[in-house]
Amino acid sequence: MKISVIGCGYLGAVHAASMAELGHEVIGIDVDPAKVGALSEGRAPFFEPGLPEILIAGVQSGRLRFSTDIADAAGAAVHFVAVGTPQRGGSYAADLRFVDAAIDGLLPHLADGDLVAGKSTVPVGTAARIAERIAGSGTGAMLAWNPEFLREGFAVKDTITPDRLVYGLPPESEAAERARDLLDEVYATALAAGTPLVTTDYATAELVKVSANAFLATKISFINAMAEIAEVTGADVTQLADAIGFDARIGRRFLGAGAGFGGGCLPKDIRAFTARAEELGRGESVAFLKEVDAINLRRRQRVVDLAVEALDGQPYGKRVAVLGLAFKPFSDDIRDSPALDVAVRLKGLGAEVVATDPEAIANSRRIHPQLDYVEDVSDALEGADLVVLVTEWNEYRHMDPAFAGARVKRKVVIDGRNCLDAVGWRADGWEYHGLGRP
Ligand code: UGA
Repeated sequence: MKISVIGCGYLGAVHAASMAELGHEVIGIDVDPAKVGALSEGRAPFFEPGLPEILIAGVQSGRLRFSTDIADAAGAAVHFVAVGTPQRGGSYAADLRFVDAAIDGLLPHLADGDLVAGKSTVPVGTAARIAERIAGSGTGAMLAWNPEFLREGFAVKDTITPDRLVYGLPPESEAAERARDLLDEVYATALAAGTPLVTTDYATAELVKVSANAFLATKISFINAMAEIAEVTGADVTQLADAIGFDARIGRRFLGAGAGFGGGCLPKDIRAFTARAEELGRGESVAFLKEVDAINLRRRQRVVDLAVEALDGQPYGKRVAVLGLAFKPFSDDIRDSPALDVAVRLKGLGAEVVATDPEAIANSRRIHPQLDYVEDVSDALEGADLVVLVTEWNEYRHMDPAFAGARVKRKVVIDGRNCLDAVGWRADGWEYHGLGRP
């Protein structure tokens, strides 16, 4: 099947390459010539495990092409819109200008029976508005909303073998049937493997996406709120999470207390959801998401406060090794990263911050050139008065405390992700501080 993907950022590049991997003929469109250039040569513009392999395979097979010219989308049966919806400047609302520009660009190239399939995360009500524009264009094209649930670091796997598919279909039954058939053809492999499918209306499909992320954010902030209580009671939040997580209704996943959530999705999505609910006169219904956001942001400050305490209230001139910059492991993404935020705040307090990360140094240096970056973790540890672990890369979580101890000046560690073996580190003579742990 011929497919176009408008927007080749994280979502679009992975989607385009994955669709080609599934045997479709794909054209990816992006306004950024550098990105299109890299992708056309089979190079991923960001770090994502498994993506380089399927990009190269797709480009070499001739099934995967990229272009800056949206006219090249003509002839595709399904056009995926995968552009970004960042937080609007000066507001919590989503900025929809890229979605609108993608539709503007696409309209002159649509043919009768084409399907425009929205993948971007949008405020509820957007799809209905776009559907009206498409209907008004007289092209005979249709719209579906088909949200994406991929996780960075597992994006290829999540696209090729998703845990569920959601189709938000047009209200008219004939158009809905045609749209569904086209999406079924796109996702034939996943459907044949028994992937659950929910077919619904536009509003539900849009809400599925934001409510899933709001729920995940709430789960993380819930356990971080328990960490705050644990801190004044001497309880251990990781044991608490283990114990409540055994209840299948609760589950242990996303109960990792620590420096909190970041990235390009959870923080902006809960804010945009709040803004949209307020527009709809239902601000009260999701007012708790403001608390979720506030708890989350407090945890970064908690890591900084612990660091200052561990430095006897005198961070100025102290050498602090910050392990991790990406918002989570297996990613080079530093958008709203708690790790980078902690590094910058410590630097702002006068500490001599030496930061490291297996993948995210180049991105971090671009926006925060004031920090010292080293590639090698042992260089970061050398002479450190304090070690702060803020992204749980495997090489940090499995680090030998004796190896680290041989390099630092003082054996003091703050485990901002509660991922180290506290007993083992303490046994090796380290002063260990977790979050929400005695
Ligand atoms: C998130 C969702 O998990 C995906 O399902 C969704 O498709 C995606 O957003 C999106 O909207 O595109 P992602 O941003 O890749 O995916 O990251 P997550 O794995 O959800 O992690 C988000 C943050 O939460 C990270 O900073 C992570 O360190 C933090 N986290 C996660 C915790 O602090 N504790 C946990 O227990 C789990």
